[in-house]
Amino acid sequence: MFKRTLVTTALPYANGPVHIGHLAGVYVPADIYVRYLRLKGRDVLFVGGSDEHGVPVTIRARKEGVTTQQVVDRYHELIKSSFERFGISFDVYSRTTSAIHHQFASDYFRKLYDAGKFIEQTTEQFYDPETGHFLTDRNIRGECPHCHAPGAYGDQCEKCGSTLSPEELINPYNAETGNALVKKPTSHWYLPLDQYQEWLEKWILEGHKEWRPNVYGQCKSWLDGGLRPRAVTRDLDWGIPVPVEGAEGKVLYVWFDAPIGYISNTKELCDAQPERWGKWETWWKDESTRLIHFIGKDNIVFHCIVFPAMLKADGSYILPDNVPSNEFLNLEGDKISTSRNWAVWLNEYLDDFPDKQDVLRYVLTANAPETKDNDFTWADFQARNNNELVAIYGNFVNRALVLTNKYFEGKVPNPSDFTEYDRQTIDEFKNVKAQLESLLEEFRFRDALKEAMNLARIGNKYLADTEPWKLAKTDMARTATILNLALQIAANLSIAFEPFLPFSSAKLRNMLGLKDVDWNALGSLDLLPAGAPLGEVSLLFEKMEDAVIQNQLDRLARIKKENEEAAKQAELANWKPQGIKTPVSIEDFDKLDIRVATVLDCQPVKKSERLLQFKLSDGTGERIILSGIAQSYPDPSVLVGKQVLFIANFPPRKMMGIESQGMILSAVDADGKLVVTTVSRPVHDGVSVG
Ligand code: 2FM
Ligand code: ZN
Repeated sequence: MFKRTLVTTALPYANGPVHIGHLAGVYVPADIYVRYLRLKGRDVLFVGGSDEHGVPVTIRARKEGVTTQQVVDRYHELIKSSFERFGISFDVYSRTTSAIHHQFASDYFRKLYDAGKFIEQTTEQFYDPETGHFLTDRNIRGECPHCHAPGAYGDQCEKCGSTLSPEELINPYNAETGNALVKKPTSHWYLPLDQYQEWLEKWILEGHKEWRPNVYGQCKSWLDGGLRPRAVTRDLDWGIPVPVEGAEGKVLYVWFDAPIGYISNTKELCDAQPERWGKWETWWKDESTRLIHFIGKDNIVFHCIVFPAMLKADGSYILPDNVPSNEFLNLEGDKISTSRNWAVWLNEYLDDFPDKQDVLRYVLTANAPETKDNDFTWADFQARNNNELVAIYGNFVNRALVLTNKYFEGKVPNPSDFTEYDRQTIDEFKNVKAQLESLLEEFRFRDALKEAMNLARIGNKYLADTEPWKLAKTDMARTATILNLALQIAANLSIAFEPFLPFSSAKLRNMLGLKDVDWNALGSLDLLPAGAPLGEVSLLFEKMEDAVIQNQLDRLARIKKENEEAAKQAELANWKPQGIKTPVSIEDFDKLDIRVATVLDCQPVKKSERLLQFKLSDGTGERIILSGIAQSYPDPSVLVGKQVLFIANFPPRKMMGIESQGMILSAVDADGKLVVTTVSRPVHDGVSVG
């Protein structure tokens, strides 16, 4: 039996603020779970921290024109304080640039190195001879081998979506400097994951069938594909130096040091407060500790395969017992992206809605991407606030409190006999605690929240059905019973919602005059003694007006526009001519009959958005050619009188009922519009080009 639970949350990169995707995927569910365990009186430690190494932070630094240290300092503070304001109740939130972490991760590597747990391999990697740097996949660009788009990344072409490796790019170059790259041998240390394959298969595939299907499935497909050695060092100048002689210029791979951050952050806390937290080893090496990693789906392989192999390689650590991982949350139908600023940032949300932490916690849990990707929309945010929190939970609580103030001087009224309907209502609360607990223990936070909300629905219906405001005119004893029961239900709500909506629960407890939350009392309808005074009453939730939501939508619309503009600029800046096609013989070229003609007339083709009809003088007479360039020439008359190039010996082709006798040559401008090629000095119509 486990004696304590250690909960970790993925360390966010300190390359930007955290957003709703992070919150829904990792931090809100983890916080709900930890708050629940604390309420149950379990021994629990909740670890978080910022991931301050790796390429993402260095890219951000370059973008902002500041040092990497400045970037991580800024975002670490911002992320930490946003979590605090949002009520993510970490016991420790530290960072991977701390001295403790550097020492710890360095020692961890060295221990495995000394024990011969790594293999050293030399491979050829892309290198910029001018800057003297090896490049990571993201920092390499070149022509896509599939769609020939310029500026594809070393790991992906954004144009056609192909997954790439830098080797496949045509003419690879340094994304930052534009310099051409060469291959150069470099040696690194690898964790031979293949040696852990059998052990991992047994541990996960046989031993953890209870893991979520998405987690288990991803592990299975990695294992089925066969594990290969994975490099744990990199050629970079930002990170933890590899503690081996002759490894100058090499650092620990960010995915090697970051998960060790869970351990070093625990150590930092335990060393600072040993009387409260004991020894860090108890949390990481004692088999009676249950370790749970909350992560997003892109982190599954690292937490279920790589990190456990690292722990196993050391041999003195416990392994995760579960790795609840969520799918992704999108925003208004589009993938959330830090680099494209397509996100609802937590710090901005808290500035715009300083007392509405729980509304976001509610929406993100009710709509959590537990089994599939989900979408956050501001319309849904408003609807869930107005139709659920305000209209059900808030309305119920407010009625119970206001009526008690009105008829019973703000004191919990004395109940008399319960009716059959009262008893039915009371029965609904009997199993609440067990139901909530079983859902929470299984990490089914969305269903658990639904269950809690269902209690509010029951309360709301109870008051709507019994109408104490009418009864108060004729039957004060019955009114007292109803309001007593309603207040007891409200007290239950303050407990049931405590892990999910801690701010509102505290507020509700104040209004009810309840001092502490007693999870074990959940389900009891005897929480408030008759005669006990209520606190000051205010609205638990407030209606969200359209204008407030529109504000947020306007912001997103602005960002979308900025992104489109930036994408255009980036395409311009990254534009490189396509690679030269395979050589052709002069005989082949000669087969094409390219000539010059003067445009006599140029009109849009009726009912076509694309086509322009050219009447040309080609030296022998008139010729009609249709060209799909109408979008580029809103006023086609500007082309009249110009001498253009055309291919004269293409077979005629009918379009929109008109025969086109050839093809006019054009080029694509920076906006993607076609530009007709013209001659620079007048020549005879019909003259050949060659
Ligand atoms: O994906 C990420 O944002 C990583 N920074 C998560 C690291 S989790 C852990 F290993 F620290
Ligand atoms: Zn492509």
